[in-house]
Formats: sequence, structure tokens, C-alpha cells
Amino acid sequence: VVYIKTLYRNEKDYVDKKVKISGWIRTLRASNAFGFIEVNDGTFFKNIQVVFDNKLENFKEISKLPISSSISVTGTLVATPDAKQPFEIHADAVVVEGMSNSDFPLQKKRHTFEYLRTISHLRPRSNAFSAVFRVRSVAAYAIHKFFQERDFVYVNTPLITSSDCEGAGEMFQVTTLDMKNPPLTEDGKIDYSKDFFGKQSHLTVSGQLNGESYALAFRNIYTFGPTFRAENSNTTRHAAEFWMVEPELAFADLSDYMDCAEEMLKYVINYVMEQCPEEMEFFNKFIDKGLLERLNHVATSDFKRISYTDAVELLLKSGKEFEYPVKWGDDLQTEHERYLTEEIFKKPVFVTDYPKDIKAFYMKLNDDNKTVAAADCLVPGIGEIIGGSQREESLEKLSARMDALGLDKETYWWYLELRKYGETMHSGFGLGFERLIMYITGMSNIRDVIPFPRTTGLCEF
Ligand code: 4AD
Ligand code: MG
Repeated sequence: VVYIKTLYRNEKDYVDKKVKISGWIRTLRASNAFGFIEVNDGTFFKNIQVVFDNKLENFKEISKLPISSSISVTGTLVATPDAKQPFEIHADAVVVEGMSNSDFPLQKKRHTFEYLRTISHLRPRSNAFSAVFRVRSVAAYAIHKFFQERDFVYVNTPLITSSDCEGAGEMFQVTTLDMKNPPLTEDGKIDYSKDFFGKQSHLTVSGQLNGESYALAFRNIYTFGPTFRAENSNTTRHAAEFWMVEPELAFADLSDYMDCAEEMLKYVINYVMEQCPEEMEFFNKFIDKGLLERLNHVATSDFKRISYTDAVELLLKSGKEFEYPVKWGDDLQTEHERYLTEEIFKKPVFVTDYPKDIKAFYMKLNDDNKTVAAADCLVPGIGEIIGGSQREESLEKLSARMDALGLDKETYWWYLELRKYGETMHSGFGLGFERLIMYITGMSNIRDVIPFPRTTGLCEF
């Protein structure tokens, strides 16, 4: 069997030779004398055309095959330089591997993405999702490649944890207790000492705290894994289960993190454009006109860096009426983030030095005592794609901050202890992998860039 990708990439080696391919029928039309089948074998974005005629003993059966039937074709690869596709296979034999029912839902007409979400088990066989999920795979590889080439160590942090990294209380609980009838303590609270781990545990919202402990041994590390958030935000950019890349760099300050993140984004964008030209062409044509031009611009120009305070001032001065008014001290809303990147700067922007009260406990306090050394990377069309910061390295300041926020320091004893044994300046960030895929493909809903989305009210498949 030859893969269709191999044929497309090495056409000249195969022309006029016998080949055998296996795949699924995308389209089929036939007359009494001959017919055409477009086959896709999954290895390549494009289909290959198979021409067959009534010399085949099973010509009648083949002519009537429903879309999505799986077949194996043996035949000669013929160059067709004047046709739409550069070559086709003239079949000597077509073997039916698995006949499809005739009601396969992805017939040729176009479907809405909303509808395709209801058939998540079949949608990878459509053009759009074939493109999205191959790009997702290539982008994941590019991320590993980027960090491995720079000697970052890949660390697998736990998915079950007892600490809340972001302190936002958006965690899914993990328990072996019978929650209909849980054991209770004397004062009537649920007795988690009877639980599997002897304490309350959750699915992780971030691997950062564990990542920091490895950065203080390996210097530069990254995680890349599933992350869970029970935030009840039914938006096009939030999922309950998503993948995050979390690099952590020792002996690095906030601008070192931004340099690393910017270089990484450019690297991944370039790598995907190089490796997936057919898919990117498809997105550019059918999903988001101007995508390629925009990505090329991103890959070749410097990101903007601006402080939160200056950004707030610009937004106020813009005179634009936002649904949610801009105010120093409040978090930037998506509408503000998008206005900054789409209207004011027209490129990715790092907003730095946010007020401490809207950011997590571990961020390094700036000298002004009001802001922290944090930076979010915002991109046009999406808003926040990366969140990160320099970490508070002073045990004293970190403890004080945790006390002020009412965090249970016992749970975080090991994290605090890192400050005692050779602490150094360190910084890191979290890239939302689905948001990156949305950015690269132009897809506008997070549900369409993760194979089986988990969002509010959606846990099928
Ligand atoms: O800004 P966040 O919450 O930062 C952290 O978790 C830090 N611990 C990261 C670090 O410094 N190591 O999340 C980081 C990124 C966001 O910028 C966003 O891209 C993505 O994760 N993200 C989500 N993506 C999809 N669905 C959600 N519910 C997301 N929440 C965050
Ligand atoms: Mg954030």
C-alpha cells in the first residue's frame, strides 16, 4: 500500500507504475461505462481520483457504493497535467473493505460547524476537520521541537492535585466518597480524611507550581498536558478540559519570558505554514480570508509590549464605548483586549504589570507595591492566548501575600520551601493550546479545535 501523501510528495517516482491505496470514498459518480471515485486515505489533506470502468468484474457494485465506504484500489498512477489534480489512478481492481450505510451524514453538501459538533465521531472525515486536526498534531510537535532544540526538559506534572494554582476555586473535585451520603466530621462537614487520598483533591488547573520546582533543578522546563477548569463560562474561547503548555525558566525575568514566548509563537506558526501548506491554503480560502497574510506578518514583526496602566489610558482615550467600561484596577475584558490588538496595534500585544489584586498569588510584586510582574499575550481575533509572570521569590513576601488572600499555607508547604533552598529569579507562562490552534487556523470556536470538546453542558462522545 502506498500512502496518498507519499504519492503527492513523490509523484514522479510513481507515474506509470502500479500502486495500491486504501481509504474512504469522498465522492463517487459513474455512468454505464466508467466512473470516478475521490478517495481519501487520511494521510493527506487532498483526495486522489480513481478512474474505473466496466472491465472490472464488480463494476456494478462499485458504481453504487455509498459515500464513506472503505476500499482498496490497485491500479496505475497516471499523470494528468491538464486536469485539476496532477494525477489519477486507473484501477485494475477495487476491493470493498467495508460498505457504508447509505445515510452517512457527511454527504457532499456543506454543513455548519454547529451540526458537525453533534457528530464529533465522524467530523474528522470532513475537509475542515481533517485540516484542523492535522494542524493541531503538527503544532504540538512544533512545540516539543522548539523546546527540545533549546534543551528544555519536558516535565509531566500531576493531573490530580490538592493545590489550586490559580486560587480561583474553579476546580473539578476528584473523590471516591459516596457524595449522596458522605461521611461527616463532628461539626457536620464532609470528612475528606476518609477519601482515597485522605484529603480533598481536584483535577489540576495548571501544572505551574510543580513546574517551578523542576525549573529550580533543570533550569528550563516545559509541561504540555491536559488542564481542567470548572469555570462556568459558556464562550467560544473557554473549555472545561483544554491543553496547556507551561514553560518555566530559572534565572529569567519578565522580559526573558516574553522573548521566549514570542520566539515560540513565531516558530510554531512558521513550522505549521511550512509543513501544512495545503491545510493553511484551505483555511485562508474558506475559513478566514487574509489569514496567511496576517500570520506572515506576525511571524516577521515584533510584538508590542505595553503596561496595563498605559493600555488602560489608551483605551480610555480611544473614546470607544465598551459594553463593560474600562477602569484601572479591573481586569481587561475580551472586548478591551480585542480592541487593543485589532484596532490600536493590529498585532500581538504583551500587556504587562497588572494590578496585583486581579492576578494570582505567586506573581512577583513590583516596587510600586500595587502591580505585579505579570504579562498576558493578546492576539487579534481571540484576546488572551498566554498568561505568565515572574514569580515571587521572597519567602516573606510570598507568605504575606498568601495570608492576605486567605490561602492555606500548609497545602503549599513544599512550594514555599522552594524559596528556602537556593531560590533564584524565575519566570514562566502558560499557553492555551486550543487558543493557539484557533489563532493559526482562523477557526472561531474552541469546540472546533479539540477533537471531543468538554464545555458547559457538553460531555458526549
Ligand atoms: O492565564 P492562565 O490562567 O495562567 C495559568 O494557568 C498560569 N499558571 C500559567 C503559567 O504561568 N504557567 O492560563 C493560561 C492560558 C490562558 O492564557 C489561555 O490561553 C488558556 O491558558 N486558558 C484556557 N483555554 C481554554 N479554556 C479555558 N477555560 C482556559 N483557561 C485558560
Ligand atoms: Mg490568564
